[in-house]
Amino acid sequence: MCSFRDAVLAVGWLTAACIAGAQGAGKYPGVGRDATAAELAAWDTDVRPDFKGLPKGSGTVAQGQVIWEARCAQCHGIFGESNEMFSPLIGGTTADDMRAGRVAALQDPTARRTTFMKLSSLSTVWDYINRAMPWTAPKSLTTDEVYAVTGFMLNLAGVVPDDFTLSDRNMAEAQARLPNRHGMQTRHALWPGPEFGGTTQPDTANVACMRNCSGLPRLSSVLPDAARNAYGNLQEQNRSVGPQRGLDSSKSGSTRIPAGPLHDQGLPSQAK
Ligand code: HEC
Repeated sequence: MCSFRDAVLAVGWLTAACIAGAQGAGKYPGVGRDATAAELAAWDTDVRPDFKGLPKGSGTVAQGQVIWEARCAQCHGIFGESNEMFSPLIGGTTADDMRAGRVAALQDPTARRTTFMKLSSLSTVWDYINRAMPWTAPKSLTTDEVYAVTGFMLNLAGVVPDDFTLSDRNMAEAQARLPNRHGMQTRHALWPGPEFGGTTQPDTANVACMRNCSGLPRLSSVLPDAARNAYGNLQEQNRSVGPQRGLDSSKSGSTRIPAGPLHDQGLPSQAK
């Protein structure tokens, strides 16, 4: 049987197991029932890289701009360039990238990354917007609005012209111009992996350093005294999970970066 907690813990395969369980409900009289076709259809919304699952619809770049400015720009920036709520979505791609299908700047480890620099499959962004955006009201866009706003983002990224209408019929056309369409590959050990007959080659060319490695990282920026308590105590506002604990910024001068292997050396003078 599947509890609500189980389903929340593992939304993916456990939910599938729950649905399968419901179909066998006859085995447990009075407990559960078969999922209806409508319920399954409501779950089954994924859009695949070959565009299987894409619903019919369309939207123009101009319509997308109106939606973007009303419902997306406050978090992602007018041009998708903001990194305040999330990393920038648009930028960092060139006409040459579009011709090659690979984003050259990704070879530069110091270059900032944007979503559209990395995106190799347009279905991913369509599907994500359809199910998850706007962040504060997911699933509130109509199918046509998802086409329109995706088309507008493609226009911001220089992939489609101003008068373009994106639809289920020409997604493949836009896909064929995505700047990083050839930038991802599965010939590495993470996918599909040796157990499926894939390669054992790692997906990185870096060599792990095990001895005499370069020096410990040095902190290059700290919160200036004047800003210490500007937004309350940062430590109290951090989540209690994950490695980040944040600084105790409640009192000027009291802030101390915890001593530890990373911080034993090179503490800047402001961190008392
Ligand atoms: C209230 C703020 C907010 C609004 C409004 C908003 N977003 Fe987002 N968006 C986010 C945040 C935060 C994330 C990252 C979410 C996460 O990783 O869980 C995100 C992620 C995304 C991503 C995925 C980027 C990636 O690389 O994974 C896309 C695409 C996106 N938003 C598009 C949109 C579109 C289109 C709209 C308008 C219809 C919109 N967003 C409205 C906050 C917002």
